[in-house]
Amino acid sequence: MTRLNAENVNPHIIKAKYAVRGELAVKSEEYRAALAKGDTSLPFEKVISANIGNPQQLDQKPITYFRQVLSVLENPKLLEKPDVLIDNFGYKSDVFERAKWLLSKCNSVGAYSASAGVPAFKDSVAAFLEKRDGFPADPKDIYLSAGASSGVNTLLHIICATPNSGLLIPIPQYPLYTASLAVLDATCVPYYLDESKSWGTDLDAMRASHDKAVSDGVDVRCIVIINPGNPTGASLAEEDIRSVIDFALEKNLVVMADEVYQTNVFVGKFHSFKGVLRKMQAETPGKYDAIELVSLHSISKGMVGECGHRGGYFELVGFAPEVVAQIYKFVSISLCAPVIGQCLVELMVNPPKEGEPSYELYQKEYDGIFSGLKERATALHEAFKTMEGVECGDPQGSMYLFPTIKLPPGAAEAAAAEGRTPDEFYCMRLLEATGICVVPGSGFGQVEGTLHFRTTFLAPGTAWVGSMVQFHKDFLAKYS
Ligand SMILES: Cc1ncc(COP(=O)(O)O)c(C=O)c1O
Repeated sequence: MTRLNAENVNPHIIKAKYAVRGELAVKSEEYRAALAKGDTSLPFEKVISANIGNPQQLDQKPITYFRQVLSVLENPKLLEKPDVLIDNFGYKSDVFERAKWLLSKCNSVGAYSASAGVPAFKDSVAAFLEKRDGFPADPKDIYLSAGASSGVNTLLHIICATPNSGLLIPIPQYPLYTASLAVLDATCVPYYLDESKSWGTDLDAMRASHDKAVSDGVDVRCIVIINPGNPTGASLAEEDIRSVIDFALEKNLVVMADEVYQTNVFVGKFHSFKGVLRKMQAETPGKYDAIELVSLHSISKGMVGECGHRGGYFELVGFAPEVVAQIYKFVSISLCAPVIGQCLVELMVNPPKEGEPSYELYQKEYDGIFSGLKERATALHEAFKTMEGVECGDPQGSMYLFPTIKLPPGAAEAAAAEGRTPDEFYCMRLLEATGICVVPGSGFGQVEGTLHFRTTFLAPGTAWVGSMVQFHKDFLAKYS
């Protein structure tokens, strides 16, 4: 017996579930490796990883300006011969200016930075937030992180003091939250989003979950909101945000707003929690001073899609100085976020401006990615409309569709015989038949008795959508 085994490693890790990289994803990688080795026995030629919002794995091109600047940051010798890059690779003069400026602030992307990030980059984030929200932001409240995941991890470590510490988590949700709470051995207090209202927040459901948890003795401390939603894509109206803030005030809850999809909005407009909170504070002076809000953003999503570079930030509002000191200590234990990722955060929040040499191409690429995502979402949604027993609201945002599926009783029996839930069974058969990897709704949580799956709409082309439609028909024919 090895010294470490499943019986004696941290049981909280064993308990954690993270379906977006679970059994289906592992199997899809095995298929990908087999195809790469020339395996011709599979009924498909390509694996489509629609299980995870990983834009560049699915052909989204990096924004040229960002990568040009990064190339100079990684190899500052390029600054010695800008003409070569200008003449042969289409670099523009502002690429070199920006790279020089970034290097002057971090010295080298190979050096550790200050724990909460390079101060000048935090200034840029504050300027971006001020412009976005119309209210001042203070760089000292901003922490650059290795993606939003690392920010969430930091905050959850601070919030979860005992197994009795409870956090209200939306269901369905991106499983980072439930998995992290399992690892930290804290209590997840689920609140259900309302599918009949385009997956909006339902205050009554929130209140009922909160009050039940409190009566069970849970110390509910925080409410997590994912806006725009994952897996739902829902984008909250300002009114909904206001009621969450009122609820947080009434129940004395920290608000954690995961806003990584803030630029992936097709319907309506993104409203930030910070902006809405500041408005409420201005309208009723004093009333909302006690609100503690942390909001998070990332370079992983949107038109940037640089998730492999691991960059993001969070902004703290209203936290007590002694708590901030512990947050600072916690982030400093990991030294700093990747500095190249920090540079990308700076570029994301401070892209080329109108009139600057790189602006035109930047804007063209940005708009092209946005409209491409919207077109793909619409095409997939149209395909769902043709699938019997599949219902899906209009695409609203983020990178996902999360349809309801109604499966015949034969499928439920076959699933039970394999020890799977019916949605897992469906997704497994879909992968085996088509190479398309999606995630069963059970990986995000769903109302008992309902079934869903989540798919990204990032994959290019329409062939994969066609094979999903065909699979569905065959599946229904087989199990009806
Ligand atoms: C809602 C949500 N939050 C956070 C993350 C993690 O993002 P990052 O790559 O910035 O860690 C994701 C990734 O899919 C997400 O969907």
